[in-house]
Amino acid sequence: MIELFKDLKTTSDQGITSWEAPSNIALVKYWGKFKDQIPANPSLSFTLSNCHSKTTLNYRLRSEFSDDYSIDFYLDDEPKEDFIPKIKTFFDRIEAYLPFLKSYDFEIRSTNSFPHSSGIASSASGMAALALCLLEMTVKSIEETNSEDFYQKASFLARLGSGSGCRSIEGPLVQWGSTPSISNSSDLFGIPYPTDIHPVFENYQDCILIVHKGSKAVSSTVGHQLMENHPFAKQRFAQAHQHIEKLISILQSGDLIAFVELVELEALTLHAMMLTSNPNFILMKPNTLAIIEKVREFRAHTGIPICFTLDAGANVHLLYPHKDAIASFDFILKDLVAYCENQQYICDQLGMGAKRLS
Ligand code: DP6
Repeated sequence: MIELFKDLKTTSDQGITSWEAPSNIALVKYWGKFKDQIPANPSLSFTLSNCHSKTTLNYRLRSEFSDDYSIDFYLDDEPKEDFIPKIKTFFDRIEAYLPFLKSYDFEIRSTNSFPHSSGIASSASGMAALALCLLEMTVKSIEETNSEDFYQKASFLARLGSGSGCRSIEGPLVQWGSTPSISNSSDLFGIPYPTDIHPVFENYQDCILIVHKGSKAVSSTVGHQLMENHPFAKQRFAQAHQHIEKLISILQSGDLIAFVELVELEALTLHAMMLTSNPNFILMKPNTLAIIEKVREFRAHTGIPICFTLDAGANVHLLYPHKDAIASFDFILKDLVAYCENQQYICDQLGMGAKRLS
């Protein structure tokens, strides 16, 4: 892969780059990784639209050589020193590909469209936006930023910031992790999902119910480590490959009954891995379970194929087709919002990936 990055040089001594990158929600979950952010199993995600990070990078060539990075970071215009170690770790991992990182002063300004305290992780969208900003420093003409080669490199870099970040460059569906049922799949970067998708998945909806706004009880770094000696790891990793294969035919046929079954099984398996690791974690809250039960009741009564998925936290993502948006949203307002912290929820849908901001 280092070949892809050969001869990457910056094209100016100072400048500004700015990108918006989306969040994503995994249908088949990435949980477990090896050295250099190589995933232990393949994953597949919906790219979101409204939930995104916007990052602006100001860079200026330094007058003197230094052996450390020079980074100022602002979130919502407030300086945030505590984010800098994570960015430095990211720079350490990508310096082999972008060898100029110690030669510049960087000022990074980031905002998220979703509230800071919503419990929605911003690392995927934030790292993806930063990777795009840094990579743009190397292009000779702006047209290059529209190329598949540029997106692939950006995904490769974003992966080194946050694994799921490599799925936050393109849309509407992205697959990451080498797996036999997708011929050009790679552990190194996400690819736009390459096979046919049934029209029922167009504009698929994701309503995120904010059950718990606090930060997660287990960071994803610790969570992935828990898979290292996990008694069920081998079976889980094998299952993820099978689930990708099944999902390919579901996405093609539009079989929503099978879709609901697989997506919910993936979400519960992710939590089952945390429930059965050593140490173990219960990340669902009573209201998470109450919502899951209500969703299953509603689906049984109405036949509307609304389903839930979960990240490594208590919040619930509800997925449903665009044609069922009105009935599903009525149900959410009437029966589910009461279980959300401060009645908070975020309506989102499939999105097309990152955008360069002028
Ligand atoms: C549960 O991408 O946050 O959301 O690579 O350590 O940054 P790092 O982990 P991260 O893990 C995401 C895990 C997940 C499932 C998923 O998005 O596939």
